[in-house]
Amino acid sequence: MMIMPLVLFIHLIAIGIWAGCVATEIVCEIGQKNMAYKQSYIAKLHWEIDKYVEIPAILVCTITGVIMLQNVIWSPILITKVAAGVLAVLFNSIAAYTVYMRYHYFTKDNESGYIKYHKLHERIGIVCVLAIVVALVAGGFRIVGS
Ligand code: HEM
Repeated sequence: MMIMPLVLFIHLIAIGIWAGCVATEIVCEIGQKNMAYKQSYIAKLHWEIDKYVEIPAILVCTITGVIMLQNVIWSPILITKVAAGVLAVLFNSIAAYTVYMRYHYFTKDNESGYIKYHKLHERIGIVCVLAIVVALVAGGFRIVGS
């Protein structure tokens, strides 16, 4: 008895891993907020989480989302969900770039470059989390039925 199409199952697991990474990174970023940049482990740790877990999960979420777009019945809530999902992918890609550049400047011992991308990451991170939450809530409504 198939309860859920495999692609949707993989889509939801990938989103769970992605959201889990974001939540863990928020805890680490807040925990390291007042550390001098040379003592902080956040630049290296956040980039490694992005590189090995978060970006692959976002790729799987996007590929499975695009596959499922083939046979959807559009509704206002699905349009909201997919639009928020696509925005979340875009904002998180920009956020991952700022994390990569922050780590790049950390390795070059360039504090002004580090601070520039640290601040950019804080700002883009907020809109990214908002887009993920909107997609989760809209998707959740679709699953449990409004
Ligand atoms: C943070 C990002 C995302 C979240 C939280 C999310 C969440 C969900 C959830 C909960 C569902 C199951 C409910 C449903 O069937 O509608 C779902 C289905 C789906 N998602 Fe996503 N999604 C995200 C990103 C994407 C992206 C980027 C795309 C497209 C490129 C996409 C396309 C779809 C499609 C087509 C379905 C199946 C809709 C259906 O036939 O019912 N999603 N998503």
